Amino acid sequence: MAAVRASGLAKHFESTCALDAVDLTVEEGEVRGLLGPNGAGKTTLLRILLGLVRADAGSVQLFGRPLDTSDPSALAGVAGFVEDPSFYPYLSGRVNLELLAELDGGEASARIVSVLERVGLAARAGDRLSGYSTGMKQRLGIAASLLRAPRLLLLDEPTAGLDPAGVREVGELVRELAAGGAAIVLSSHQIGEVENVCDSFTVLRRGRVVWDGTGGELQARAQASTYALGTSDDPRALEVAERREGIRAVPARDGGLVLSAEEGCLDPFALALGDAGVAVRRLELLISPLESMFYALTAEPSVDPNKPAGREERAFAET
Ligand SMILES: Nc1ncnc2c1ncn2[C@@H]1O[C@H](COP(=O)(O)OP(=O)(O)O)[C@@H](O)[C@H]1O
Ligand SMILES: [Mg+2]
Repeated sequence: MAAVRASGLAKHFESTCALDAVDLTVEEGEVRGLLGPNGAGKTTLLRILLGLVRADAGSVQLFGRPLDTSDPSALAGVAGFVEDPSFYPYLSGRVNLELLAELDGGEASARIVSVLERVGLAARAGDRLSGYSTGMKQRLGIAASLLRAPRLLLLDEPTAGLDPAGVREVGELVRELAAGGAAIVLSSHQIGEVENVCDSFTVLRRGRVVWDGTGGELQARAQASTYALGTSDDPRALEVAERREGIRAVPARDGGLVLSAEEGCLDPFALALGDAGVAVRRLELLISPLESMFYALTAEPSVDPNKPAGREERAFAET
């Protein structure tokens, strides 16, 4: 049974169309990335799924039951937060969780110690929230959601404001929860932060779904990756690049080259450099295929959606 089955969701705020004909299905054990630039409608969609706002049109079923915002039991087993998780700043992390557990009926109290450990906050649980970093607040938000032992977890930009280690930890936690059977939706405007964590993606642009599918399917549509390239002889490397299919190279502003390579074209190019007597000293992925696809999908309509665009084009323009 699907954890979420939403179809035809629409939501308007006066003249703004926040969501239009949005479908979303999330299976148990699936991690779905809800992606899109700021203003795409991610938070609005999560608010609807959490029963915080009502859609103007469309339907939502959670675990096969229609979502009825007047019936709190329809949200049993569902937890999460939108925008920043909010807590009392003058109370400690632990006391904030105790208050939430009481509101939830008290039986969640028994889980407080273990959820604090799970999100890596046990040692700081006695500190006031006002001294928490952004990352600690995000992790406490996840801890608060876990108090409800959710079967469906809805997290709005849980990696925003985290350092790379924090992003990785949230990713590991999400994968663990999914391995235990939970369905998870996590939103992000940075595909790079969640691409390794998600099984599937729903990409929103201006309230509409512009892509829905698995990571593999998205990757298969991706055209090129962008790399920083340093060689023993960059002018010669540029000449070699010019003769190769699927390869585009330009000098980078700060030295070295920026290279765009289509799927399968990078290895032959590296070998051709060797044949030409050019040694590769540095090759670093700047934009992954998924990222470049994401930028192409969410680019503004003046840009041809069939062309890789967005940051990749900009990376070239800046050189
Ligand atoms: N309460 C609101 N009142 C008016 N406009 C809103 C409200 N909430 C969201 N919007 C608008 O709806 C659109 C989608 O917003 P949001 O769902 O927050 O996007 P995202 O989370 O992807 O950044 C934006 O244009 C935003 O300004
Ligand atoms: Mg948002």
